[in-house]
Amino acid sequence: MDYQELMNKAIEASKNSYSPYSKFAVGACLLTESGKIYCGCNFENSSFGMTICAERNAIGSAIADGERKIKAIAIYSPNQKHCYPCGACRQVLNEFKTKEGLDVITESEEGLEISKLSFLLPEGFNL
Ligand code: THU
Repeated sequence: MDYQELMNKAIEASKNSYSPYSKFAVGACLLTESGKIYCGCNFENSSFGMTICAERNAIGSAIADGERKIKAIAIYSPNQKHCYPCGACRQVLNEFKTKEGLDVITESEEGLEISKLSFLLPEGFNL
């Protein structure tokens, strides 16, 4: 699974976004250490604080399937170039990074950008 394929799946996932309040669709697709992929989209709620981000939706599916190590995640929004994960999602990704770290893949017309989670979340909290 190369990173462009991962991004293509994130783009597909964004089409299922339920975002009637913000109108900001997001899709995410992650790759685990074992080579499996899991996708998610954001889904909002009339009680705004209940909204779940695309990244945490995808992470939840991976965890529910027994996966614990995430190598990479592609994130896409039709509303924004280089849609980076919010602070909460960065911390949740930090929990499940591999020993080698975790690649965060974003995109614009110029192509894919690969950022290390350790760059996006320096000194993330760990117990
Ligand atoms: N959102 C995500 O899905 N991922 C992020 O990392 C940032 C924000 C969603 C939440 C909400 O539905 C919409 O984008 C606007 O904040």
